[in-house]
Amino acid sequence: MKNDRLLKALRREPVDRTPVWLMRQAGRYLPEYRATRDQAGSFMDLCRNAELACEVTMQPLRRFDLDAAILFSDILTIPEAMGLGLYFTPGEGPKFEHPVQDAAAIARLGKPDAEDDLGYVMNAVRTIRRELDGRVPLIGFAGSPWTLATYMVEGGPSKDFRRIKAMAYDDPATLERLLGLLADAVTDYLNGQIAAGAQAVQIFDTWGGVLTPAGYHQFSLAYMQRIVAGLRPDPQGNRVPVILFTKGGGAWLEAIADTGCDAVGLDWTVDIGSARQRVGDRVALQGNLDPAALYADPAVIRDKVGKILADYGPGPGHIFNLGHGVTPEVNPDHVATLVDAVHELSASDHH
Ligand code: CP3
Repeated sequence: MKNDRLLKALRREPVDRTPVWLMRQAGRYLPEYRATRDQAGSFMDLCRNAELACEVTMQPLRRFDLDAAILFSDILTIPEAMGLGLYFTPGEGPKFEHPVQDAAAIARLGKPDAEDDLGYVMNAVRTIRRELDGRVPLIGFAGSPWTLATYMVEGGPSKDFRRIKAMAYDDPATLERLLGLLADAVTDYLNGQIAAGAQAVQIFDTWGGVLTPAGYHQFSLAYMQRIVAGLRPDPQGNRVPVILFTKGGGAWLEAIADTGCDAVGLDWTVDIGSARQRVGDRVALQGNLDPAALYADPAVIRDKVGKILADYGPGPGHIFNLGHGVTPEVNPDHVATLVDAVHELSASDHH
């Protein structure tokens, strides 16, 4: 491995510079991404084509001095493989033709097989690893069971999560059957990615933050903990670090750190210095620049990067990232400013 800053920081070992990668570093803000997606046909066609998925994974690495690649795919591949009929309507986000809204629909679901049903994702992982040739590590990922379930039960994005929340209150046993199945499916899926070459994995719990504290523990964290416990070592027998990211999870950092994960992803609503005090030396921390800071002037972006590095303070265990994904309207030059600022401003005080 030519650049192992990310893996060292995940193990809380000293590094020369703070490693940086960005959620949604590949995507619509890059004109070359839009061109490749149009060439592929649809977004899912792009995900299913290992060569083109590899191409869009590499695009941000050609422009920016990033310390990791992230598999180009989507969290909704699992429900898609379960037969829910994923489709995208422009401007409205992902939708399902067949949402699962009652016990009977949930009872009919089966667990997808990582190679037989999701082999296109494993092929993409193998293709990307070959293309990276040890330049930077490859991060694999999956959605949390709760976050996947929100899309599966609501049928698409939601503002109030009323169907799944009604199910959580009225019939928690049925919801927990779905979450248990998803936890098994995500465990197999991540183990498949690890076997295919993923060198770290992240679980995206985008909607954990809409739950009550008790609901978060019961319906989201418990299932992520099951996944962490079920992850296997890489083909060389080494532990593969796992990052848990709950958007809106700032109130529960101690509990997240206690799952056995290696790193906790922070959104932009928490102060990273206070977060570090709260989790102590149990885990590394990833984050947490406000994604909207990328709309600001480059001098301001630099300043805000410096603030987060200073708030984290000296010593190991910080992976720089945004508090959520890069948005489509962002100017790619501003991303370059961010990445270069992380490396320049973290060079002195390490780490
Ligand atoms: O980070 C990366 O560069 C890797 C690729 C990646 C995508 N989706 C590509 C994508 C990752 C890690 C994801 C995760 C994902 N997908 C999450 C969790 C992270 C988060 O953002 O909270 C969620 C909730 C999804 C579900 C999903 N898929 C949404 C909400 C959308 C956007 C729909 C829209 O029109 O805004 C997608 C589609 C999607 N996934 C796109 C990309 C680049 C855009 C599709 C396009 O090209 O039009």
